[in-house]
Amino acid sequence: MIGRREFLRGSILAGAGLVLGPSLSHSDLELEEQLSPPPFDTDSLERFVDSLLIPTTAKQAGTRPAPDDPSRAIPHFRIEMREFLQKVHRDFPATRMWGYESASPGPTFDFEHGQDAYVEWVNLLPIHHMFAVDQNLHGAENGVPQVRTVVHVHGARVAPESDGFPESWFTQGKSALYYYPNRQDAATLWYHDHALGITRLNIFAGLFGAFLIREPFEDELNLPSGRYEIPLMICDRSFDRRGQLNYPIGPLFHHPWVPEFSGNAILVNGRLFPYLAVEARRYRFRITNVSNGRILRLTLSPEHPVHQIATDQGLLDAPIEMGSIQIAPAERADVMLDFSALRGRQVVLQNDNHEVMQFRVSSVRTEDSSSLPQKLRSVQKLSSSRATRIRMLTLDEYRDPIGRITRSLLNATRWSAPVTETPTLGSVEIWGFINLTKDAHPIHLHGVRFQILDRRAFDAEAYQKNRTLKYAGPLTEPSASEAGWKDTVRADPGMVTRIIVRFEAFAGLYSWHCHILEHEDNEMMRPLEIRRPNYSGNRS
Ligand code: C2O
Ligand code: CU
Ligand code: CU
Repeated sequence: MIGRREFLRGSILAGAGLVLGPSLSHSDLELEEQLSPPPFDTDSLERFVDSLLIPTTAKQAGTRPAPDDPSRAIPHFRIEMREFLQKVHRDFPATRMWGYESASPGPTFDFEHGQDAYVEWVNLLPIHHMFAVDQNLHGAENGVPQVRTVVHVHGARVAPESDGFPESWFTQGKSALYYYPNRQDAATLWYHDHALGITRLNIFAGLFGAFLIREPFEDELNLPSGRYEIPLMICDRSFDRRGQLNYPIGPLFHHPWVPEFSGNAILVNGRLFPYLAVEARRYRFRITNVSNGRILRLTLSPEHPVHQIATDQGLLDAPIEMGSIQIAPAERADVMLDFSALRGRQVVLQNDNHEVMQFRVSSVRTEDSSSLPQKLRSVQKLSSSRATRIRMLTLDEYRDPIGRITRSLLNATRWSAPVTETPTLGSVEIWGFINLTKDAHPIHLHGVRFQILDRRAFDAEAYQKNRTLKYAGPLTEPSASEAGWKDTVRADPGMVTRIIVRFEAFAGLYSWHCHILEHEDNEMMRPLEIRRPNYSGNRS
């Protein structure tokens, strides 16, 4: 968490696209304080005056020969990243953002299972960054281009060369052609920037969108679809009084990185306090937490049940009735909401008692042929007995002499150190995250899906002293809402969080990391190399 002082640092310097040099001294702090206006208090804005934006569907640009069979033509998309202006709120001037196809969220990809496709991701962004780049961070050093991009489809099962490795960035005027097989269970995935050392800034600027995979059996479930199925990409931001995005600058000029961003405004699909006119029937909302660091706890007011039907990697066994939905950064929850008993009413979606958006339910009675199924799919539990290896990995945080967080790491190892997580393709492993910090960290592995085994309190002091794990509480099973397939798991403070993973699909170089973007950018990220069983030392 960051203090109010840090949080209030404004955007004048950052907004000018300056890279802050290392020569400025500590005593410039007061000057900076004067230069930086506090973030605009969005509480003063009128609520629910703008309608919810529904992202467009990505438009196919043409076809290309399939990689495995040139006689088969597969869809080809061309997606441009550009700077653009977006109305976030009626009473705000337009906000400068970066987005895919000049929108944030970018267009939604909507694929049937097995429908493979190419996407050419094109960088047409300015060459100067919208926010202060911290040249102390790995990969963002002096001499490296300020604006770099690389696209990752979060949760996608793709070959490493199309996964968006953080070092595979490209600059203005360049592009990358990625191949997506889409051979995986139906799920709500999302795409976002992943450039080394500036991911937090690029995503903050607006570089994200939804990526859906569907399966035919879902049709038989008769879930709400078409205009009754809506992605909600939710994040916190802060703004200056000119309505421009305001990313804070850290305590020192020469080290603008802040340990974790937290904003006072919550955007849904790029808008502040939007409303959605709904019919008095069932809807399906695919919710993604695209915040840099905020865990969302969503409730409805007046209270009304929500049924969660899917987690990160697809449908649950059966719907679960929830009073609130908690998702950490990068986690997803598909929910069903039935407005039929709320005809003519207004329902507010809240996050920790702050209004986020409003549903205006029509007073007209409507036919609703969709259903809330009893059973969704069967999620086979991965048994611990199949694991051939257990890795215990620490989550660490480092502080300077006056107690400020300077860096976070995985297993006390920096990004550029030789790869240590090298599971064998096809094998099953258990990974235990020993959280030695005071923060919850959403840990994400690329290229795979997993299940959460359990969480268990441990004695952190004893661990720090002699590296022995002394448990200090009973095993807690994952909550019902996290019991399905996952690709991101909340590792709570003071706990060992264990997951079980099968490294299926592809061999090669991926990454795993904390999805608090400030942590990821400051080396809470490590390579993950999935090796073929007959691995002999050369990279696949
Ligand atoms: Cu959502 Cu490595 O990312
Ligand atoms: Cu990912
Ligand atoms: Cu973290």
